[in-house]
Amino acid sequence: MISVVRGMRDLHGNELAAWQQAEDVIRATTAAFGYSEYRTPILEFTELFKRGVGTDTDIVGKEMYTFEDRGGDSLTLRPEMTAPIVRAAIENNLVRHSPTTRLWYLGPLFRYERPQKGRYRQFHQFGAECLGSAHPEADAEIILLAMETLAGIGISSFRLEVNTLGSPESRAAYRAELVAYLSSNIDALSADSVRRLDTNPLRILDSKDPADAEVVKGAPRLYDYLDDDSKAHFGAVCGILDSAGIPYTVNHRMVRGLDYYSHTVFEIVTDALGSQNAICGGGRYDPLFAILGGTATPAVGFSIGMERVMLLLEAEHGGWTPAAGPDVFLCCASDAARLPSQLLALRLRRAGLSVVTDLLRRSVKAQVREADKLAAQVMVTLGDDEMERQEVVVKHMASREQRSVPLAALVDEVMKDMKA
Ligand code: HAM
Repeated sequence: MISVVRGMRDLHGNELAAWQQAEDVIRATTAAFGYSEYRTPILEFTELFKRGVGTDTDIVGKEMYTFEDRGGDSLTLRPEMTAPIVRAAIENNLVRHSPTTRLWYLGPLFRYERPQKGRYRQFHQFGAECLGSAHPEADAEIILLAMETLAGIGISSFRLEVNTLGSPESRAAYRAELVAYLSSNIDALSADSVRRLDTNPLRILDSKDPADAEVVKGAPRLYDYLDDDSKAHFGAVCGILDSAGIPYTVNHRMVRGLDYYSHTVFEIVTDALGSQNAICGGGRYDPLFAILGGTATPAVGFSIGMERVMLLLEAEHGGWTPAAGPDVFLCCASDAARLPSQLLALRLRRAGLSVVTDLLRRSVKAQVREADKLAAQVMVTLGDDEMERQEVVVKHMASREQRSVPLAALVDEVMKDMKA
C-alpha cells in the first residue's frame, strides 16, 4: 500500500465542507475590504526565497523543498506567499497600475518541518498584502482584515500581539547593543542561539528555549532604541486599533522568523493548540521590493494558517457540523424506470437541485436506506405504476410524509418540500 506523504493530509467530508464555509467567509470579507484574489504558481525559482525570506532563516536554511528541474534550474515549492506576491507585483507592474494594490491569496505551501498537531509539511495559508502605502492606516487595515476574517469564520479563542521592529537604521543600532549583551551571557545560551548570535541575533529574543528566555529577560529593549518616526508610526497603528475597539497586547520580544520585516509586526495566537500557537503572522515589509530588484515600495500583510484555524474551529465547536445531504434521492423502482429516472434526475438538476441516483441497480429498500444515509431531504420514486399514471411519489424524508404528484409539477412540488 502506498500511503500519503508524511506531514501531508487528505481533506474530505465534513471537514472539507467546513473549509469551504471558511473560504466563503474569506471571499466575503476580502471583498468587503476591497482586496482582489491573486494566484501565483506553486513553484518559484529558489533564488526568490533565498533573497526574499533570507538565507539565515529556518525556512530557507532547513525547510525548503528544493530540486533541480530537467533543464537544470533550481526550483522550490513555495514555503510562503509574500515573496511570490512581491515578485508578481514587480514583474507585472501592479503598483504602477494602482498605487495601493490590495491582494489576497489562499493556497498550499510546503515546509520540511517536524510534523505534529497543527504543523504540517503541506499546509495552507489565507493571506492578504497591501502594497503601496507607508502609512499606519495600511498596517491597521491589514490587522483588521485578519481579525474580522477570523471572527467571521466563527472562532473566538485568539488574541492579537503587536510589536514594532522600527526602521532598519534604528534596528542596526539596537542589534549591536543586543549582541554585546548576549555575548556577555553566551555560556547561558542554547546552542541554537549561540549560532544565531552571528547570523540573526534578534531571533534569540523570541526563542522558546527556557535558558534563552532567562537571558533575554535582562536584554535591552528594542523599542528604547527606535527613532521618533518609528515610534510615531507604531503609536498611530495602536491608536487605530484602540479606536476600533480591537484588544491587543504589545509583545516587545516578538521579532518574527522572516528577514523582510520593518516597523509593525504582529501575530494572532491561541492557547488552545499547544505549542503551535500562532494562527496568523504578519507585518510591514518595506525593504522587500528593493531586495527583489523592484522600485522601493512600502507594503504590509499577513498570512493565516488554515489548518490551525480549522483545528481551533473544531475545538471550539466540539467537532464538524455534518455536511448537508443532497436535495433529492431519486429512487428507481423498476427496470423499465431506469432510463426515465436518470432523465428525471437531469431535469431536476437543471432546475437547480442536487440529485443523487442509484447506480448499483439496488432494491427499493436498499435505496431508501441509502437516501437516509446520505441525509437526502426528499426522495422521488419512479416505478412502473407511476410511469403509467405520469406521476412520481415525493417523500419528505424527515417527516416520512409522502404523496403522488403529476410528473409535470414535480419541480414545484419538490421545491415545496425543500422549504418544509
Ligand atoms: P509565517 O509566520 O511563517 O509568516 O506563517 C504564517 C502562519 O502560517 C503561521 O502563523 C501558521 O499559522 C501557519 N504555518 C506556518 N508554518 C506552518 C506549518 N508547517 N503547518 C501549519 N501551519 C503553518 C509568513 O508566512 C509570512 N508570509 C506572513 C506575512 C504575510 N507577512 C507579511 N505578509
